[in-house]
Amino acid sequence: MPFKALWVTETENGTFERTIVERLIDDLPAGEIVIRVHYSSLNYKDALSATGNKGITRAFPHTPGIDAAGVVEISRNEQFAVGDEVLVTGYDLGMNTCGGYGQYIRVPASWVVKKPESFSLKECMAIGTAGFTAANALYKMELMRMRPDAGPIVVTGATGGVGSMAISILAKAGYEVIAISGKSNAQEYVQHLGAARLETREFVNDTSKKSLLKPQWAGAIDTVGGNTLVTLLKGCQPEGCVVCTGLVASPKLDATVYPFILNGVNLLGVGSAGTPMEVRVTIWEKLATEWNIKDKIPAIAKEVTLDELNNTYFDNILQGKIMGRIVVNLNNL
Ligand SMILES: NC(=O)c1ccc[n+]([C@@H]2O[C@H](COP(=O)([O-])OP(=O)(O)OC[C@H]3O[C@@H](n4cnc5c(N)ncnc54)[C@H](OP(=O)(O)O)[C@@H]3O)[C@@H](O)[C@H]2O)c1
Repeated sequence: MPFKALWVTETENGTFERTIVERLIDDLPAGEIVIRVHYSSLNYKDALSATGNKGITRAFPHTPGIDAAGVVEISRNEQFAVGDEVLVTGYDLGMNTCGGYGQYIRVPASWVVKKPESFSLKECMAIGTAGFTAANALYKMELMRMRPDAGPIVVTGATGGVGSMAISILAKAGYEVIAISGKSNAQEYVQHLGAARLETREFVNDTSKKSLLKPQWAGAIDTVGGNTLVTLLKGCQPEGCVVCTGLVASPKLDATVYPFILNGVNLLGVGSAGTPMEVRVTIWEKLATEWNIKDKIPAIAKEVTLDELNNTYFDNILQGKIMGRIVVNLNNL
């Protein structure tokens, strides 16, 4: 059966072109579950794949989209029945497996999560990999005994996808949040999500060459990397947790060991794509209950068509211009 999908091709001179084409389910990779995708979302990685970054997607032509939510259309696995509402985030979806920017995906059953009852398919994609990553970060911090009374938690890239979700989830869980943003108009937005205060990017960009700073936060969820991550480690209070989730400024970490060996600071990592299924299910359960930020989704998420995504939003996210999350509607194409 034909369906519509975004199709990224590499030209002979090494540039990349994107068009919306008709594809066939038979042409999708092997897998036990065929899902009719209703919604996908935009993540930083999707924009890299859509613009031909071979660190993300080795082979083109390709359909990006690391997130997908929809309805099971064909199942060769007894855990899933035709008609089940499900979601897939990460694994190889949208990387080298045709992803959520197509109206159908075919994936292994081991990648599929049943949709939590309290969310619609669209809300699942408003959360998507970004929300799952933010929740994963808090989950790891709490495994290290982080609690709201430990002190404030810094969130960098505060108006981006992971940042917006991190602020909302931390606030919902009772934490005091210091939001860091480079956008001058971010105050009202981050406050609405639950941040106690907003600071500029300079607040976490120490250039003093000191090995340690006065402890100012109990932890951080960082999307920026580079000197921001170094500063977050230097200024973290003893036994605090800094979670590295991203690299929008830099993949480098030019740090000393002093925060670790003198202050016992924990540097944690989140790699959402490969999160084991039992942890995934636990995190989605938390998102659906104690960390449920459904009431914040209307302020965070904007719905776009596949056409709009293709024409505008890949460039916007790569330039750090997005506020919140972009949900892609794959219906009625
Ligand atoms: N580890 C994982 O599993 C995982 C999962 C999802 C995403 N990520 C990574 O996390 C990062 C954020 O992803 P996202 O989807 O949230 O992207 P996003 O929506 O584009 O958000 C990134 C935000 O970072 C800030 N920013 C951009 N450029 C910056 C710079 N040069 N210096 C300081 N801040 C800058 C901007 O926020 P302000 O304007 O508010 O400062 C921007 O909105 C990416 O590196 C992505 O690859 C990792």
